[in-house]
Amino acid sequence: MSQWLTLSRAAHLIGVPRATLQKMIAEGRLPAFDGQVSAEDLTRLFPEVRLDEAGAFERITQIKEQAFGRRVRERLLPNQEVLAQRLAAQSEELEEVRRTLAHYHDLIEALREKIETLAHESPAAQLDELARFLDEGLAGVLSREEPADQVAVMDNVLRVMAAHVKVKPSNHEFFVEGNETILSAAVRSGLSPSYGCGNGNCGLCKARIVSGQIRQVHPYDYPLSASERAQGYALLCSHTAVTDLVIEMLEAASPEDIPEQQIVAKVRSIAPLAPDVQLLHLVTPRTNRLRFLAGQRVTLSVSGQTASFRADYPIASCPCDDRNLLFHIARDEEDEFARYLFAGALKAGDAVSVFGPWGRCVLAADSGRDHVFLACDTGFAPVKSLIEHAIAADVPGSLRLYWAATGPAGHYLENQCRAWADAIETFHYTTLAAATPQEAGAAAAREALAAGDIARCECYLAGPAAFVAAAQAALAAAGLPAAQLHTEEL
Ligand code: FES
Repeated sequence: MSQWLTLSRAAHLIGVPRATLQKMIAEGRLPAFDGQVSAEDLTRLFPEVRLDEAGAFERITQIKEQAFGRRVRERLLPNQEVLAQRLAAQSEELEEVRRTLAHYHDLIEALREKIETLAHESPAAQLDELARFLDEGLAGVLSREEPADQVAVMDNVLRVMAAHVKVKPSNHEFFVEGNETILSAAVRSGLSPSYGCGNGNCGLCKARIVSGQIRQVHPYDYPLSASERAQGYALLCSHTAVTDLVIEMLEAASPEDIPEQQIVAKVRSIAPLAPDVQLLHLVTPRTNRLRFLAGQRVTLSVSGQTASFRADYPIASCPCDDRNLLFHIARDEEDEFARYLFAGALKAGDAVSVFGPWGRCVLAADSGRDHVFLACDTGFAPVKSLIEHAIAADVPGSLRLYWAATGPAGHYLENQCRAWADAIETFHYTTLAAATPQEAGAAAAREALAAGDIARCECYLAGPAAFVAAAQAALAAAGLPAAQLHTEEL
């Protein structure tokens, strides 16, 4: 009897994106039933899955390091390798017990059917026949020699190391690894939970634990009422998951659900990406992070000696890393913030005020459609954020990027695109060159339309206004519904 696994657990187990398994199901290579796949089929299709090749020992080490006090670690526990090997051995034993139980279950079912066939025999003949039947059945069970199902064994080990969390009402899923908080795990996994301080003070991450056990890992000051506690409410930023959980959690479904914020961040670094494009890296305070959706922009403001300089820029990083905010800033004499930066006046350690977030060009993560990204020049910045978010959230469907360059900066992060393509089977990218943004828009749209039925995709356009207008016109003329078009003009 094979074990059945949800797609997200199977993907976690094998170490591939969920979209890869979905593609295999769509192509008929991986059978699925009711949204689940069997461990047997996974073993057949991924024969290389073994405990020692999946980073399991490292993860056990991490959990052990984080979860136990020094005294316990030093005096009571065996060393890490022994602990990991014992866990693996116990998982094999558990799997063996499960399989044996399944065989006994089959035998009892067969015995029940056998009894019905003996209804007309004499009692003595019935007893003889049942004894013979049982002897043969037991001999069959005891003589079985089947290799342990490696996927099931790994699942046993991973259940100890990573708790599975199901979110209501969205049905989103994620894993809490090691000793991380449930909030950190949700954000890392590309979800948009409600939260504020991340520090146990504001109460915005309050959620109801429907089932499963949690454990406090950070102190908190926010006072939960007795009635909230009785109903199972807890702060996600202060607790980790001990067992698999089902929780009721507020999530941002659209830009309207994200509050306007004002944060003072620090410049971590400024580095050239290309002759006329700088990478600005800001870090927010640990207790005042920026909550935003991928693809959104913010207003940056700095105070110089005689004046303040401000401008809007799309965020180039993923909301799953909410403390590190990246921006691709192009040289532009009409942009006072860019002039200040390119003049070398902004330095590491300087304070930058961040207001926002703004913008509606966000990921349609739950649409179930393929995602097509068209970018021109530094329009790559919001697209990078969207793609990183799509990867973190393991969205279904393929990701296709068309990046057109009109200037000497070219495709200044093509190595990033190559890395995505190498790591993710469902990601593909094409680079294009054009003389003007308008030509770039027409060319990128032409390529995207040639690749497949655009009406079944979510399309994201980011770049100069002329680029967006040209691409939008071509895609709309080809039948792309307006609701599936998301634009960000630079
Ligand atoms: S995010 Fe503020 S209390 Fe958890």
